[in-house]
Amino acid sequence: MIAVAVLAVVALATIIVFFYLKALIWPQQEKVTAYTTGRIGKSKIPGMPKSDPENGNLSDITAAGSFHEFLLNLHSKYGPVASFWYGSQYYVSLASPKAWKDHIKIFDRPPELFEFLLPLIGPRSIQYINGAEGKERRRTYDPSFSHTSIKNYYSSFQLAVDSMIEKISSLPAGEHIPLTEYMSMLTIKAVSKSTFGDFFKEDGKAVKLLHHYEIVMEVLNQKMADKVESQEKFNNALKEWHDFMLSAVNHRRSNPPKEDDKIFIDILMEYCKTEKELTSDAISYFVAAFHTTAFMMVWSLYYLCQHQEIQEGVHNEILGILGKDGKVDHSNLDQLPYIKRVFNESMRCSVLAPFAARVNYEEDVDVQGYTIPKGTSVIHALGVVLQDVTIWPDPDRFDPDRFLPENVAKRHKLAHSPFGFAGKRICPGYRIAYAEGAVFLASLLQQFKFKLVEGQDIHRKFGFVTLPSDEVWVTVLKRE
Ligand code: HEM
Repeated sequence: MIAVAVLAVVALATIIVFFYLKALIWPQQEKVTAYTTGRIGKSKIPGMPKSDPENGNLSDITAAGSFHEFLLNLHSKYGPVASFWYGSQYYVSLASPKAWKDHIKIFDRPPELFEFLLPLIGPRSIQYINGAEGKERRRTYDPSFSHTSIKNYYSSFQLAVDSMIEKISSLPAGEHIPLTEYMSMLTIKAVSKSTFGDFFKEDGKAVKLLHHYEIVMEVLNQKMADKVESQEKFNNALKEWHDFMLSAVNHRRSNPPKEDDKIFIDILMEYCKTEKELTSDAISYFVAAFHTTAFMMVWSLYYLCQHQEIQEGVHNEILGILGKDGKVDHSNLDQLPYIKRVFNESMRCSVLAPFAARVNYEEDVDVQGYTIPKGTSVIHALGVVLQDVTIWPDPDRFDPDRFLPENVAKRHKLAHSPFGFAGKRICPGYRIAYAEGAVFLASLLQQFKFKLVEGQDIHRKFGFVTLPSDEVWVTVLKRE
């Protein structure tokens, strides 16, 4: 699967290049040159000294293997509030629920974090929009993903998984299935149908979209590594992707819904002032929604394969609530807590989204007795906390019971923050991820038992999203 390998490398490359490019591409940002000695505020924030006068700690990040692993090293040595140097830029990283609490109200995100996606999503994407405009966009878009709105999405999720069940059922018994490919197709179809309308009702269009995405990301990866095999291929792939999304928008424009049937794409069309902005946000939401949820499913099924007794426990819960053929919907989602525990533990154990970031351009921020000067990019080391042995004993052990209510009550509220934690800018799609995942997992487990094909050596490849090191192959056995 191209996307798996490509995205992992892209993510690492991102980390390496974004700090270099920051000053060039985002010149409006204030630099924190006044603090180049690392002595800030009242006390000095502990942190890693520069390994190189020009490149700061870049070589340490490369040596660690990924940004997440670098942050693990950094925080184990310097504590939960720690600084480091990315090139000549001074950064601070936060890795404890208490430190996060002091940063919880900050909305702005250092735009360079998503720099590598710039050619794909464009500079007017929500990812890069800060201040009043960013807040207004979130206020406008967020209702499409509210508790009430997603009531209407379940049928689209069900349609997508039903057609996948049909496909799997038609395969010869014992056939091996590539999990990443299957889950990506599933989430791409579910997202497109639920939030982008019936343009995608034929399967072929979703397949085509995934295909373009893979090509774009492959060439983007080559671009990051400065090894673009063909600039023309890159331009063509990008154009194909943009044209495709534009066709979806135009199709909706010519087939407007009734007032009561409006979905996310309709809100976008009403709000966005230019075609560029519209395509930018359409693509941003599309990619953010399908990619992460696909890997939440991949990791969940992977762990359930490794722990057959837990897979059976979840299956029993599903049988008890839904029977053999019942469907998950808004009315029964909360009656399936084991499924939610599996998703929470899978996101934790895989470290699905290892970090987020914020910046306060207006004023200094006090965090746990330290003063972080305004304009400093601050990393939220989500993954470091998800692996913190003092919060999660034996952190690499998969145990959904960590999320039983009595165990949750013992932890800080922010200890499990796979969707971010900083106020009005946390992931807008967290409710969809749980609802969509529950529809998929319940329907798949009602029909099948999943087993890992033997002989695979899968490990976590930490990037911007944590992917399995290789395609995960499973055998799917029909349940009686
Ligand atoms: C398991 C699934 C998912 C995970 C783990 C995840 C994780 C995250 C994280 C960590 C962030 C950064 C938050 C921050 O900066 O504090 C984020 C942002 C975002 N996510 Fe998700 N996400 C998931 C699913 C979705 C879905 C289904 C959607 C569809 C609506 C979505 C749309 C977005 C968007 C648009 C942003 C950027 C928001 C902004 O810039 O204001 N995500 N996500």
